[in-house]
Amino acid sequence: MLYEHAQVWTVLSIAVTVALNFRMCFSACARAEYKMGQDCCPKCAPGNRVYWDCTIDASTTCVPCPALTYTDEPNGLNKCFPCTVCITGEGLRVKTACTRSSDTVCEPLEGFYCTEPNKDNCRSALKHSDCHPGQYIKQAGTAFTDTVCGKCTEGSFSNGSFTTCRPHSTCETEGRVIKPGTVSSDAECGHLSPVLIVVGTITGGVVLFSAVGISFIYFKLKQQKCQHPPEGKTLCLFKK
Ligand SMILES: *[C@@H]1O[C@H](CO)[C@@H](O)[C@H](O)[C@H]1NC(C)=O
Repeated sequence: MLYEHAQVWTVLSIAVTVALNFRMCFSACARAEYKMGQDCCPKCAPGNRVYWDCTIDASTTCVPCPALTYTDEPNGLNKCFPCTVCITGEGLRVKTACTRSSDTVCEPLEGFYCTEPNKDNCRSALKHSDCHPGQYIKQAGTAFTDTVCGKCTEGSFSNGSFTTCRPHSTCETEGRVIKPGTVSSDAECGHLSPVLIVVGTITGGVVLFSAVGISFIYFKLKQQKCQHPPEGKTLCLFKK
């Protein structure tokens, strides 16, 4: 019985000691003050840091944070925090530049979405996914969401960059199917363009005309009769 009482007292006294210490450590100074040895000193305003702690007859001496550093709360710090750098390699760019009293705010680069959001800020971002051939862009990516892709159903196609699946050409007006459509490509129809028709006709005409002309000359040459006298020029005459 006595032994049990002793245990209870030990536990109680430990609890009281811890609670007292807690009060001493964390509640000894007012909110706008920081602990300096046994004393409390007034904190420095955001954008500043402590240069000299307060003394019995002088208040805290504060100095502004140097470039590229900040403090965003009243503080008793000897050093300001370094400003965050938005790293391009992590898909980030500056949304709001750092000031003496606020850290840099980063946002995803164009075409990227945030994978590690933190309130208004973004810690890391990734490039929007591409949709594969056979898929369409169901929802374009935003600064906070990735691209959403949808699958094309039979009879339609998308190369991955369309926002809807397009129906295959039916080849009804253009004649026969040269290649049937897939989910990623349109059907190809046996189609003659007016330009092709014109070019084809002209080429055919030229070939035919040349053939006729060459044949005519050839026959004419075959029909001539030549004499080769020992002296003088060769004399050729067309047959009558
Ligand atoms: C898909 O087709 C469009 C035009 O129809 C083209 O501009 C684009 O580059 C193509 N995309 C891919 C991924 O092939």
